[in-house]
Amino acid sequence: MRSDLPFSGPIFELIDSVLRDEAAYRQFRAGRVGRPALAALLDGRAAALKARGVPANDVHFAKRFPASIDGIVAESLETLARCGVIPRADYPAALMDEVASTIRHRFDHRGQGTYIYPEEGRLLLGIAHAVVARSAVFLGSYYGYWAAWALRPILAAGGRAVLVDPDPVVCEIARRNLHRIYPPERVEIVVATGEAYMARTHDRFDLVVLDAELPRDHPDTARRGKGIYFHLLQAALPHLAERATLVCHNILFADHSGARFFDEVIGRNELELGPFKALVASEFDRFVELPTTEGVGVGIRTSRCPTAHV
Ligand SMILES: C[S@@+](CC[C@H](N)C(=O)[O-])C[C@H]1O[C@@H](n2cnc3c(N)ncnc32)[C@H](O)[C@@H]1O
Repeated sequence: MRSDLPFSGPIFELIDSVLRDEAAYRQFRAGRVGRPALAALLDGRAAALKARGVPANDVHFAKRFPASIDGIVAESLETLARCGVIPRADYPAALMDEVASTIRHRFDHRGQGTYIYPEEGRLLLGIAHAVVARSAVFLGSYYGYWAAWALRPILAAGGRAVLVDPDPVVCEIARRNLHRIYPPERVEIVVATGEAYMARTHDRFDLVVLDAELPRDHPDTARRGKGIYFHLLQAALPHLAERATLVCHNILFADHSGARFFDEVIGRNELELGPFKALVASEFDRFVELPTTEGVGVGIRTSRCPTAHV
């Protein structure tokens, strides 16, 4: 079983395996040289990376790699706590390492590839821990890889999670992986669009994770790419708990790498995510963009506070 992608598993592991013996990469990761040295290395090794199956665009995304994965996780959680999005910045570092190791050694990708980067997995775990999420829904859960990072704190808090994706193939991979570890009654996997699931559920959720995506030639132009986020959030709003946290992948409106490539990414995001951004601004208290490799947005909505800043 294979995906359309020319790689399997996390793209980070593939890129890291090509660069790991390069002095400039090691120096960047050790904090001894800055981001321009990483960018120069990636431009110089672009052909080698592409030959190993890294899509051209993802060579540019690697220019956004954090020097330290633990460092960006700690900084991001501090930012969220400072902005009042999460109640605390401390996080269970040992649990993060344990979950990372379990996922690395036991998650069976079955030929699928993921653009969830290590800091994005750890961050989701840290957020679920900080907000003590007890009722989580993942819309566009794909094969369960991002959800796998968050399930330990959710279940430890006595909670449950629902993973929703219309693709039965990826749902089956999620089921095989997650139900080996977690009880099916607490980790439900639903083959449906997020909109259809939300229309029929009576549940309320205190953590909503968005990572759905549609092809950019999808007939419904308003849903193309990440345009689907607006529709999913609109469908989820009546099902939010009094205090609900929203975590979204691919929220990238600001770039710290300096690569011109991101001018186009940001322009496309402004178009696709414009209605979503406006909805978040009217419905959420705060929404913060974190500078992970692909960009993660995190928002908080308390029952009646529709004055937001995106
Ligand atoms: C391919 S994933 C995105 C990749 C992910 N960022 C990663 O790197 O792991 C997007 C998923 O959204 C799902 N999807 C598309 N439309 C959806 C909808 N309306 N509701 C829920 N999921 C949807 C697709 O089936 C797909 O599995």
